Amino acid sequence: MKIFRTHTCGQLRVEHVGQSISLNGWVNSYRDHGNLIFIDLRDRFGITQLVFDPEDGSQKHLMEVASKLRSEDVIGVTGKVRVRIGGENPKHATGKVELVVTDLEVLNKTENPPFLPDDYGQLPNEEIRLKYRYLDLRRPSMQKILGLRSRALQTIREYFVGNNGFLEIETPVLYKSTPEGAREFLVPCRNVPGQFYALPQSPQLFKQILMVANADRYIQVCRCFRDEDPRADRQPEFTQIDLEMSFVRRDHIVAMMEGFVRHFWKTMLNYDVPPIQRMSYREAMETYGIDRPDTRYGLHIKDISELAARTEFGVFKTALEKGKDRPPFNSKRGVVKAIRVPGGAEKLTRKITDGYSEFAKPFGVGGVATVKYINDPATGQAKFDTGCAKFLEPMKADFVAALGLEPGDTVLFVADAYGVATKAIGELRQKVARDMGVVPKPGAEGGPWNFLIVVDFPMFERNKESGKWVAMHHPFTAPRDDQAEAFINAAENDDDTIEAIVSAGYDIVLNGSEIAGGSVRIHDGRVQSKVFQLLGLSPEQAREKFSFLLEALSYGAPPHAGIAFGFDRLMMHICGTENIRDVIAFPKTQIGADLMTRAPSLVPEKQLKDLYIASTYVPEPPAPKA
Ligand code: AMO
Repeated sequence: MKIFRTHTCGQLRVEHVGQSISLNGWVNSYRDHGNLIFIDLRDRFGITQLVFDPEDGSQKHLMEVASKLRSEDVIGVTGKVRVRIGGENPKHATGKVELVVTDLEVLNKTENPPFLPDDYGQLPNEEIRLKYRYLDLRRPSMQKILGLRSRALQTIREYFVGNNGFLEIETPVLYKSTPEGAREFLVPCRNVPGQFYALPQSPQLFKQILMVANADRYIQVCRCFRDEDPRADRQPEFTQIDLEMSFVRRDHIVAMMEGFVRHFWKTMLNYDVPPIQRMSYREAMETYGIDRPDTRYGLHIKDISELAARTEFGVFKTALEKGKDRPPFNSKRGVVKAIRVPGGAEKLTRKITDGYSEFAKPFGVGGVATVKYINDPATGQAKFDTGCAKFLEPMKADFVAALGLEPGDTVLFVADAYGVATKAIGELRQKVARDMGVVPKPGAEGGPWNFLIVVDFPMFERNKESGKWVAMHHPFTAPRDDQAEAFINAAENDDDTIEAIVSAGYDIVLNGSEIAGGSVRIHDGRVQSKVFQLLGLSPEQAREKFSFLLEALSYGAPPHAGIAFGFDRLMMHICGTENIRDVIAFPKTQIGADLMTRAPSLVPEKQLKDLYIASTYVPEPPAPKA
């Protein structure tokens, strides 16, 4: 290489006119006009127009080399900056000038690329983009995302380390198995045959132990690993902004995080986040049927059980019989829930509403009842029509008042046990919102940004399959201050009252996506042991798995609390994309594969042997040829 850049391709302005400078970069595009050759040269910083002009100093032999250049060749050029003769190009910051090339060095010719990295042409499918990720990342929109991600990390460190006294501390990646819900990735240990490390689902216990170690305020940008099926907002390997603070209660840490969210959105998007609303888990479930409500649209859920009990509708009656002796909000007690859909009578066709039952069944309900509320031209009065109209019509006034109905509405009903009905109608609400076209597109610059801090989660829920109690956040979450005694009593009795114990956990939700979750922790070893017991761990099992934690808690653990932001999810919002893969340089596919490096892959038998591992997997024989 002979020509090293003196400037970047985004740098040249009118004040550089007359100067001799050098640039390096990729041929973005070229136009050969015979007597003149134009090349747009691209690097990470921008695009500069090069011109090979024999009238202004470009030698003939350079023209010949230039005429053979193709998009994505890598070159170096030296030349003289002049005012752009063909007129300004307002698309580029360098658009007022061009560089007349006097020396050209081809640094690397490219093979014919599978696609050109521009944002205007047709992009190939995502598989090809991931296979040739280095080409995809050259696209200006992907470059912008890489830039935003880097800036975001800087902003995070600025707020926490620079402004608020947090210490950045790294914790191990070769870790011990901890129960945080997801399946773990295991790493065999050559030096201790038959034993495994687990990759961390999060550094939860290390950060708590760092509080015992007087780190006081900890932050880490850390990679977490969860062997679960990827989704649009989930990756098996993802990044958390992980935090922990000593000597705080819930309100302190939540205020610190609210301050962060405000600082982050201001710095990244120049947006002033208004004070963030707190919402209890109960309210979220009651009104939105989900613990991470999207409050950008209404379609609120109403519990109309009392009213429904007075109808003759068998579906309602059967549901309300379920667990009727149980206390309100008990997951097994029958309820009837409804959503009023303004304008639904016209927009939600019969075909669409018929599909709702099929949509809701996988969530455990028998179906979805529907009715329209429309003007009757014959009487000039509004009436219920279609679906379960005949059961509602006799109590029309009550339903209209309870649901605030207007002619033109459709109402959707789900009747079942509280837990099942709530989940089903919460999912249905989101589907209806999409069908009605009321969900705003993700807007990187303008929002709307509906932040929520959800608090007062139950501490435990029953696992659907095993029927055992599981921690709703994780087993290190403390009961809310005023629930400590109730927790101990409930734990002693191990009965339904456990479901009602409220934890000191909190989530931060943005436009229906959970961007962060955390809790005040248990700092008393006895309470921690009780939680383990409730989760079905015998004292021996608890000791075996967590003796280090229980021990640490016994040597002067300060009260502490923490939270983790899903960094990739934050970036999805900042970049305005609904696909988590867009904000990760080298993401994994739906089956957890890296298409570029082709991971995961088989390893040589010898390597397995060294690790004392024998695979029981038998590859399926290839399908017989037809
Ligand atoms: P939690 O499991 O709620 O809490 O995770 C915190 C945040 O991480 C993000 N997240 C993910 N992002 C992408 N892909 C995934 N597979 C994925 N899983 C989670 C979410 C989530 O809100 N140790 C606790 C935190 C604490 O209590 O301090 C924890 O990991 O945005």
